[in-house]
Amino acid sequence: MNQTNNHQQKLRFPDGFLWGAATSSHQVEGDNTNNQWWEFEQRPGKIWHGDRSGLACNWWCNAEVDFDLMQHFGHNTHRMSLEWSRIEPTPGRFDHAAIDRYRAMLDGLRQRGLKPMVTFHHFTNPLWLEQLGGWENPDVVTYFQRYVRYAARELSDLCDLWLTINEPLVYVAQGWVRGIWPPEKISALGALRVFRHMMQAHGIGYQMIHAVAPAAKVGFAMPVRVFQPANPDSWLDRKAANLKRYLAEHVWIMSAVDGKIRFPFGFDEYHRTLEDSTDFIGLNFYTRDLVRFRPDPRLLFGEEHYHPQGEYSDSGWRGVYSEYAPQALNQIVHEVNVFHKPIYITENGLPDHDDDQRPRWLLGHLHQLHRAIQDGCDVRGYYHWTFTDNFEWSEGWGLRFGLIELDPQTQQRRPRPSAYMYSQIARNNAIERSLVEQYAPELLSLLF
Ligand code: FCB
Repeated sequence: MNQTNNHQQKLRFPDGFLWGAATSSHQVEGDNTNNQWWEFEQRPGKIWHGDRSGLACNWWCNAEVDFDLMQHFGHNTHRMSLEWSRIEPTPGRFDHAAIDRYRAMLDGLRQRGLKPMVTFHHFTNPLWLEQLGGWENPDVVTYFQRYVRYAARELSDLCDLWLTINEPLVYVAQGWVRGIWPPEKISALGALRVFRHMMQAHGIGYQMIHAVAPAAKVGFAMPVRVFQPANPDSWLDRKAANLKRYLAEHVWIMSAVDGKIRFPFGFDEYHRTLEDSTDFIGLNFYTRDLVRFRPDPRLLFGEEHYHPQGEYSDSGWRGVYSEYAPQALNQIVHEVNVFHKPIYITENGLPDHDDDQRPRWLLGHLHQLHRAIQDGCDVRGYYHWTFTDNFEWSEGWGLRFGLIELDPQTQQRRPRPSAYMYSQIARNNAIERSLVEQYAPELLSLLF
């Protein structure tokens, strides 16, 4: 294990540590007309400012522009996702041209020294699946199995790091609890059905990938937050925070460990395929949440609050991404490390179009990650969200998470200062004192 080398003035990461960025198909590929998000975007009032994904970052035609940049900036990995609606445009019919494109992309990453990590499901579904009832339909598990088996067979010679499903909790919460993403339902029963099918699909997906590629490593990406009571003296706030924490973390990871899907009121359902179905744990970390009790089941009895710090330049955004709390990343990594599985930070980033916060933010989080590794936590890689600005779901082009600024009209790319800073960290596999002096001198005394 590498240690802090104070005398060398750098924070070194373990040898072989993976440094990269994360993306998802719909957010970057462009012209994904055959999924439910495309359809959703066409409806007025659904996306900020009426934005649409459109050409996105034009990856379907030319992801290689960004792969070149990733190589140029010293990344050694990239996390991307497959678009189910391209691979299986109608039920049971697979599109070889789509697979060829993905093969070219994975090969392109590898040629440039970037190890691929690939997600099978990142929020989008083929329209045909949506019309059959989407993730509420129990058959989705078999459909997912068929898709994963096919794609894993076709691609597993080019990739050995897989995620079955990205943030199942967010998918359920946005689509069935808050009802603000497709299919825009507010239904506890629907939410439970989707939760059950996603866990089953994860387990079966895990088995499918291993059947084709026994040496592959398979996990899933969890959205993690450190839910804390807004008022630690309030019993109700504490209960609400604990409930969120249980629902957000515990039920998902535990299910993939012991195979038991946990429903409310202590009802468990065991699935053999789900038991021990995660080789590693992917953590998507953005912020800490302060939870205040509210007697509203749609909020899961707690409303989240944030303590914005600094002046946020991404106009009017004071919500979930506004709090700077990097020590929460350290805490969550420690908490998840008790499962004794390798950990990857599969997403971490913030919207900041003029990049006046990101350098400090990034250094602060990587410092906390480094501390966790020093404490013995088995963290293997870090994927910044994201590489180029991309289509940010309901917020459209309004939130800019990229290391690289993108003008979606002209497809012009312009690296932000953070891209250069991150590049030096990736190349050196370390945070050097001089880098902190240059980008966030206010952190010097904390880091060294
Ligand atoms: C995560 C999603 C990802 C992106 C970031 C900002 O919840 O997985 O697609 O939207 O948030």
